[in-house]
Amino acid sequence: MLDPDLLQLQAESEAAIQAADSAALENLRVRLLGKSGQITALLKALGGMEPEARKARGAAVNELKNAVSTALDARKAILDEAALTQRLQAERIDISAPPRPETFGTIHPISRTMEEIAAIFGAMGFTIKDGPDIEDDWYNFSALNIPAHHPARAMMDTFYLQGQPGQRPPVLRTHTSPVQIRTLLKEPPPIRIIVPGRTFRADHDATHSPMFHQTEGLVVGKDITLAHLKGCLIDFLRAFFDSPDLPVRFRASYFPFTEPSMEVDIGWNRKTGEIGKGSDWLEILGSGMVHPNVLANCGIDPREYQGFAFGVGIERITMLKHGIADLRLFYESDVRWLRHYGFSPLAPAMLHEGV
Ligand code: PHE
Repeated sequence: MLDPDLLQLQAESEAAIQAADSAALENLRVRLLGKSGQITALLKALGGMEPEARKARGAAVNELKNAVSTALDARKAILDEAALTQRLQAERIDISAPPRPETFGTIHPISRTMEEIAAIFGAMGFTIKDGPDIEDDWYNFSALNIPAHHPARAMMDTFYLQGQPGQRPPVLRTHTSPVQIRTLLKEPPPIRIIVPGRTFRADHDATHSPMFHQTEGLVVGKDITLAHLKGCLIDFLRAFFDSPDLPVRFRASYFPFTEPSMEVDIGWNRKTGEIGKGSDWLEILGSGMVHPNVLANCGIDPREYQGFAFGVGIERITMLKHGIADLRLFYESDVRWLRHYGFSPLAPAMLHEGV
């Protein structure tokens, strides 16, 4: 049985506790149960009482102390829980919000090389053409002076597609040269074009991929000579490799669609990979004067017109320029690789940068 003063103190305390926020609750705990708190004082007062009276009063004060302490703990639990809920609400991440505009991707080195080639040849007055990846046999071979059963067909490991009965099957183009034919058939000379695009051959290792890229070049006019071919390609290679004194060598070779044909080599150091230094030569592209049969196949009189053509492997010159050792990594879409070798979308290839 509690004493009336204790009952009143309990009732007042519990009412105050129910109404308290966290700060007020701490004050109440100190005021009631702290060193000089009200209930602590009541406990201390027991010491001066008669044993009989002290027993009854002691039990009552302890009951009061327990009740108040329980009420303080219960209120604290409620306030803590409410505070946590409020924090969770406030700190919740809205996953439906649109992402921040972070510059995550880069321009792929293949795209970059194509842009650079376009910038260099664009400044020389070339325009850009393209053609289909799936070609008729005639465009990819026959019109380019590579007749059926000609051994030159074995130079390229061709992917053939299912064709019509009685006809030669279509192919995945093995080079960008069929766009020479498509252009010669459509446009009267003078012609000055480059053709960046995908090409396909059944080949796969560290320096060959079944899908790769080339850029074709074609110039046809009334007085185009081998000197134009040489000047044009020397200028291109020196600009592309940003090396004004780059040694360039033209070496006699064979392509069915050019006569004479020449491989083009650049000077480099085989050991260090440095371009333009050292005494080694590296083959970099194929070229030649357009074969008279090719012009004739497209209805152009080879006694009136002549021209030159070339084909350059994009991956190869990109690997050389940027020191990329393995071709297969070009196609793995690894963002870490792209961040290392890629280019800022905000820095397009421009001639005034040396390209
Ligand atoms: N088409 C040839 C190849 O893929 C390259 C080339 C193009 C050579 C134009 C001469 C002239 O190997």
